[in-house]
Amino acid sequence: MNNIIYLDAAASALKPESVIQAEIDFLQNDYANAGRGICARASNVDNMVANARARVARFINAAPDQIVFTSGTTDGMNRIAHIINDRVCGAGVKNKTVMVSDLDHHSARLPFELLYDSDLCNIVLCPMDAQYNLMCSDLPRADVFVITAMSNVMGVPQDVAGLIAAARKKNPDVITVVDAAQYIVHNEIDVQKWDCDFVCFSAHKIGADTGLGIMYMKNPERWVSPDKFGGGMISKITGSAVEHNVCFQWESAPAKFEAGTLPLTQIIGLPAAIDYLSANRPNLDLIKYLYDRLSKNPRIKIITPRDSALFTFYIDGMHILDFGASVGARGVCLRIGNMCASWIHKCLGVAGTARISVGPWNTMDDVVRGADIIESVVK
Ligand SMILES: Cc1ncc(COP(=O)(O)O)c(C=O)c1O
Repeated sequence: MNNIIYLDAAASALKPESVIQAEIDFLQNDYANAGRGICARASNVDNMVANARARVARFINAAPDQIVFTSGTTDGMNRIAHIINDRVCGAGVKNKTVMVSDLDHHSARLPFELLYDSDLCNIVLCPMDAQYNLMCSDLPRADVFVITAMSNVMGVPQDVAGLIAAARKKNPDVITVVDAAQYIVHNEIDVQKWDCDFVCFSAHKIGADTGLGIMYMKNPERWVSPDKFGGGMISKITGSAVEHNVCFQWESAPAKFEAGTLPLTQIIGLPAAIDYLSANRPNLDLIKYLYDRLSKNPRIKIITPRDSALFTFYIDGMHILDFGASVGARGVCLRIGNMCASWIHKCLGVAGTARISVGPWNTMDDVVRGADIIESVVK
């Protein structure tokens, strides 16, 4: 396995030693549940979770109680669709409009496509320019705006603040939902500058563990009803169905949105991942190297611009799965297929592509060896 060249950071990041150590320390020395006990060990875990929440908040310029732990971007986007459905697209308000885009990952758009399919909202598309960037001009009016801050196929940061400001001009009450799963790896996020209502990202793409995501909520108390129910999110139950009187009070946010036991080990590793990524962003000169070298091969059709965070391409005259299998057999790990982003592939007119992405661990040697192998497959 050590000969593998891992060029698939955008699918999931390898883990820094500090993250692994933080998780091992927790499991070996400090393990207990959070929010459930009053002994010293349990309150120590409560403090660790609070520290992790505060670290995430600092990372995106939010307040700790605006940070909700989820299981990933997918979970966050699905939850947001449910949370705002009550208010925006629910029974009696069927004329509300959700704006999505062809840059969206399936996890960002499908929850809203399904609301549409249940006759609960209308869908409109955010316009794109010839380079597949979202356009601030000519935005349709929308009640909800789903923004992919960086496509996992195109790798170009979008003007999130500009898009939100433009959407607000059409409707001051528009609810803005940002999928930052790829953007956050390469760019600093300031949720206050964006002035968005929701942001989602996944811990595993920033060097922390799987099973953990972050959902930022600008105003958590605005959303009266949470979408999940269980332990840790109710402060008082004063009636029940048996008494024909269902009556309870929610905890305040973020607990209100965190029913059940949290993925504690992953949360404890998260601050180390954020520290590491903040000091070691992926070196995008490696992507430029690939662009400059592989653009000389006429069979390699590059889709991404030279200054993209990703290198996405397809091969003229070779099925992309055959290409992927050949480079994979030679030890190069990259992403092949539609990348759960069918709509942009439809716009590009190709069924699938290959994507190279780099993390902080990748070196020039990795991409030189990767390019050697790609060239040997695409003669
Ligand atoms: C832009 C984008 N959004 C959402 C997701 C979904 O993330 P996850 O599978 O961690 O929930 C991904 C994953 O590749 C992504 O690239």
